[in-house]
Formats: sequence, structure tokens, C-alpha cells
Amino acid sequence: MKRIDSETTRQILDAANIVDVVSDFVSLKRRGANYIGLCPFHNERTPSFSVSPARGICKCFSCGKGGSPVNFIMEHEQMSYNEALRYLAKKYHIEIHEREVSDEERRQESERESMWAVNDFALRHFEDNLVSNPDGRAIGLAYFRERGIDDAMIARFHLGYSLERSSALYDAARAKGFDERFLVETGLCIRTDQGRVYDRFKGRVIYPVHSISGKVVAFGGRTLRSDKQVAKYVNSPESPIYHKSSQLYGLYQAKRAIVAKGKCILVEGYMDVISMHQAGVENVVASSGTSLTEGQIRLIHRFTENVTVIYDSDAAGIKASLRGIDMLLAEGLNIKVLLLPDGDDPDSFAQHHSSTEVEEYLAANETDFIRFKTRILLEDAADDPIRRADVINDILRSISLIPDLVKRQVYIAECSRSLGIKEEALGLQLARIATRKAEDDEKRAARRTAEESIAGSESPDSTSAQPADSGTQDYGAGFLRDYECRVLRYVVKYALCEFCDVEDAEGNLVPMTVLDYVRAEMRRDGMEFSCPLHARIMSMVEDTAATWPQVRPEIEARLAGERRQRLDAAYADLRSQQLGVSAINAREAQIVAEADGLYREALDNAALDYVGRTLCSAPDDDVRRLCTDLSVERYRLSKIHTKHTKVESERDSLIRLVPRVISELKGAILEVMIHRLQTRLKQSDGQGADDLALLREMKRLMAKRADFARDLGERTITPRRI
Ligand code: CTP
Ligand code: MN
Repeated sequence: MKRIDSETTRQILDAANIVDVVSDFVSLKRRGANYIGLCPFHNERTPSFSVSPARGICKCFSCGKGGSPVNFIMEHEQMSYNEALRYLAKKYHIEIHEREVSDEERRQESERESMWAVNDFALRHFEDNLVSNPDGRAIGLAYFRERGIDDAMIARFHLGYSLERSSALYDAARAKGFDERFLVETGLCIRTDQGRVYDRFKGRVIYPVHSISGKVVAFGGRTLRSDKQVAKYVNSPESPIYHKSSQLYGLYQAKRAIVAKGKCILVEGYMDVISMHQAGVENVVASSGTSLTEGQIRLIHRFTENVTVIYDSDAAGIKASLRGIDMLLAEGLNIKVLLLPDGDDPDSFAQHHSSTEVEEYLAANETDFIRFKTRILLEDAADDPIRRADVINDILRSISLIPDLVKRQVYIAECSRSLGIKEEALGLQLARIATRKAEDDEKRAARRTAEESIAGSESPDSTSAQPADSGTQDYGAGFLRDYECRVLRYVVKYALCEFCDVEDAEGNLVPMTVLDYVRAEMRRDGMEFSCPLHARIMSMVEDTAATWPQVRPEIEARLAGERRQRLDAAYADLRSQQLGVSAINAREAQIVAEADGLYREALDNAALDYVGRTLCSAPDDDVRRLCTDLSVERYRLSKIHTKHTKVESERDSLIRLVPRVISELKGAILEVMIHRLQTRLKQSDGQGADDLALLREMKRLMAKRADFARDLGERTITPRRI
């Protein structure tokens, strides 16, 4: 496989028209400048899915899904970035040029290709055994039958059987010309120290593991023997194509159902997934017996925010896994828990109940995780006051991980009721836990910054928020992030928009772009974005803006062509009319002026859109997501009503808006600095030279704050000379 070269990527992104792309899946109606339709990502009766041709973006205002054309295809078709690009290239008949890959890349690539190929062969071999090998049928197929698995599920999950011979797969693969090296590297075969090679999965039924895009990356083999001497499961080892911590069993088969139902059900084992599927519950994945990793959680989050974890009612297992669930909370997922009846696991439960019964049981017994955890732990602590206190702290620690403030408050209210403790007390304790955690995070972040920072850069102090120890305002990491987002939004949307004139050194008025202005303002005060993602986006904006001069001539040529055509058509029209010379002259001048006006406007718009569109289609998931969010309509006032009740567009108001958000960010940074100083003053004894310095600094900051207040009070801030 080669890489799509950057020129082709740009062509694809340029060609992809959002209305066009979405229309293949959603029926759209025009509404003003936008289009609107029923959201394809969740069930709804009134349309909340909006498509903006001007911005090249779609977005559901109800579930939040959407984005650029690439995003939409990735989300809707569950494709990777590259797959989505290929899809769009095909739709727009764009020939894909592939970038020459370096020798090293090629070596790694072909290595991985070879490993996929050999895994693919093995999958077919194992599957085939189940159908056409007498032993395979008598042993493997009989086993699945006995466990109640039907042919459709065997086909869907590509279940198989590895014969009870030490080199059945090895011999078959070698006969087909597969390299021994790849048989060993994928772990299908094992080479002994003596150089003998044998099959890893000999005599086991086979569960292949697919990646999200459907490639076979690993296998699990279950023994059919019941003696305790042999391992129940043997799994493929880690390899260049298999990283256990970033795969989930069944995700490939479940992903569509997860998106459609807006929920992912998490179980433990291979059989749990398969039996649930067979019972018609298809949004199920398995962690394969181990505790979840962050990579797996993020994988789930790509498809949904809602996770239900199913437990068999084995108490020890439940308590052991509570910790793992905290990670899901921290990722911002909504977690529910489901306990099965005594003695059942998802596999047996699904096997013994109809699909309606399974669905009904799920619906009736799902419990919110925090509520569940509280109940389990309290039962355990009984009346022991010390243990009860531990339990409460444990619950609060879980709550403190939830990123959403409103949700945290709802939980505090609920726990107050169920624990019989005042809300204020719980809130206070929560703040304490959060502070301690924020301090730890801060220390960790500082260490990271120190490691990452290139020699000689400014200390991060001036821009990074410090956690609050008390007080009403939360100065944690999220505080500055909002202000930064507001600035970043204008940068992403209007980077190349010339929104004001400034005097240069010779006193000439030169136009200044939003990007230039923000960059200059931030540089002057030594500001940097405290959030690494924001900093990354800012530098990508700068990089992209720098490529505009190269892209511009091509766009100019295209628009000039369109202008020419428009003129030709107008002239032809003019010639067909019976007009006197002076009328013709007047009309001609008008025609040219109109065409020129349209040309300028189109060029202007192309420049304006260039950066935003590019970032909304960036390969980096986080960048693309945030830029899309920043670009959509909901986050802006598209019409601004002024005193004179005239309606102004946001673009016409940039001269007021951009300096304002910059000032607000500066003000926020100032607040954080003042707050930190106050904390230090409170902690000190009020004596000594240090304190004097602190007080002096405080006075300076307060004066600056007053300046800002004044600035923000003014309706218009005129850009200063740079
Ligand atoms: N597992 C594993 N290696 C083991 C034991 C378990 O990889 N030695 C993983 C498998 O993915 C298994 C899951 O943990 O599916 C759950 O383990 P377990 O409950 O023991 O197996 P079941 O899936 O219930 O298998 P079966 O119903 O066939 O006994
Ligand atoms: Mn089982």
C-alpha cells in the first residue's frame, strides 16, 4: 500500500462538496443559505442536521456529529481517514497519485502487508477445516453446535478450527509459498530453539480478531479439553500488526450497531460477544478478559459516548473492575452497569433467552455506574463509620473524574440523598479531591513541558492556569481553555481575512489579517496557548496560511476563467439587443464592473475559507474535531444586531470582535495570575521581604486588570500600530 500524495489529497478536499457528499445519504432541504435534513447518526423526527455549503461543513445540533466531507464519510461509513479520501476520490473521479514511500517505510509496509496476508490465509484455512475437514467437522464444528452457535454467526465471526496436528497450518502455508518468517512473526507458528517450527493453535477452536477496518490481526484459540493442565485460551502475541491494548474483540462486527443504537455494550469474552449477536444484540464488544486500556476506551469513544458494562454477578470480579471503569468516566463517557442473574454470564443468558427478553432485561436493569458503585461499596461497609467514610471518598473520587461540570453536580445532589450527607459537605470534599488531583496533573504537565520545551523557551507560568484551593471560580485547566477557544475560533475561521488597516513604519496604511493580528498581539505579551492542542492548531494555521500564496494563482486562474465566461455571455446577450451606442457603452461598463465585483468577492471568499477548510479536514483527529466544532454555526452569532437595528455579519464585525476576545484572554490570564498570588499571600505569614515583592506584584497586576476592564468597556478597540 502506498500513501496518497499531498497534492492528490488537496485536490480531493477541494473537489468534495459537502452538500453533494451528504446528499448521497441524507435527503436535504434548502433553508436560507444552508441545507437541513434528518441526522443520519441518531434517530430523530425533526431535522437538526445542518449543512453549510459556504463553510463546507455539516453538523447535527442534537448529537453533535458531523464535520467536513472527509469527516462525514469517516463517521458515516466508519472508515479511516485514508479510506474516506479514497472514497471521495472515486466519487469525484480524481486519479490518485501515490507518494513514493521511503525504503524504510516500504520495508515496514510490505512487512505488515505480508503479515496480514498470512493471517488471512490462516483464517481461511481454519474456517475451511470446520466445513470440509472430517476432524474439523467432528470436533470443531460439533463444539460450536454444542454451544448453540449457528452457521450465520460462524460465518460472521469467521470461526474456525486448528487441526490436532503439529504443523497442519505450517505445511499448508508453506505449500502456498508463504514465508516461514511471517508465520513466526504473526505468532501463528512457534520456532523452537532447535529450529523446529510448529502450529501455536493446534487442536483448538479459533476466534479471529479483526481490526476496525476488518483486517485479521490476531487469533484466540480455545482448548476443547477440560483438564486444568492446558491453558484455556492461547492468543496471538504482540506483533507489528497486533497491539492488544488497542483492539477490542468484535468491534469490527459491532461498530455499525454501536453507532445506530448510540451505545456500546462491554462484555468479557469471545463467546459473550457471539452469543449476544446471535440473540440480536449486536452493539457488543469484549475486552478479552483483561482490564480496559486507554487506547480501547478511545476506540469506543470514536463511536459513542454511552457504554454499558455487563457483569456476571461474581462479587470479587465486580470490585476488581470498578477501578477500570473510572477510566471510562475520565474519558467523558456515560457509564451504565448491568448485573446478570446469579450464575449467568452474557453468553449463557443470551443462549437461554429470546432476543426480546434480552433487550427487555437490558432496558430494565441497567443502572447508572455511580449509583451502582455506591450501592455495592455501602453494602460492604455496612455500619462501620470509618469504612463508610472511605466509601464516600472513593465515590467522590469517581465523580471528580467526570469532565462535565453539570453532570458532576447532578451526581453530588444524588449522592447527598443516597448517603444522607449535606450537598455542601460533599461539594467541599469534591473540591478538595479535585484540587489535589489538579496539583498532581499540574506537576505531571510541568514535567512534560519541561521535557518537551526546546531550550530557552519561556516558563509556562505566565499562561498556564493554577488549580484553585478554594473560592468560587474554578481556575483549573478548563478555565483558560474556553478563552483560548474563542480566540482560536476567529483564527481558524478568518485567518486570511484582512479585517483592518494598520500604519506601517512609513505611515502607509496596510491591510492586516486576523492571523497576523492575533499573532502580533500574543507575541507582544509573550502569550502562548496553554492547551497543547490549541498551540498545535495555531501552528497548523500558520503553516497552512503560508501555503496560500502557492495555491492562490491556481484559484485566481479558475476565477478569471469564470469571469471571462460571464463577460462573454453578457456580451452575447448585449449583442442580441437593439441598443444605441451610448446605451451599449453604459451597459458594458456595468457588465464589467459586475464581473469584477463577483471575481473579487469569490477570491476573497476562497482565501477566507482556505485555512478553515484545510484544518477541518486535517488528518489529526483532535485537530479536525475541534476545528470543526469551532467552525459551525451554533458557536457564533451569525447576525449581530447593532444599535441602529441594522444587521451586521460577523465578518463585518471582526474589527470589534477579534480585539475583544484577545483582551478577554489576556484578562483571564491576568485573573489566574492574581488568583495564584493571592493564594501565596494567604499562605505566607505576612512578614519579610518576599511578601513585599508579592504585594508589589499584586499592585501591578491589579493596575493592569483595571486597564483591561477599561479596554473591554469600550465598544471598539482600534488595532494598534505594530
Ligand atoms: N482469556 C484469555 N486467556 C485466558 C483466559 C481468558 O485470553 N487464559 C480471555 C478470552 O478472551 C476469554 C475472556 O478472557 O474470552 C474471558 O475468559 P473466560 O470467562 O474464562 O472465558 P469465556 O469467554 O467465558 O470462554 P468459554 O465460555 O468458552 O469458557
Ligand atoms: Mn463463558
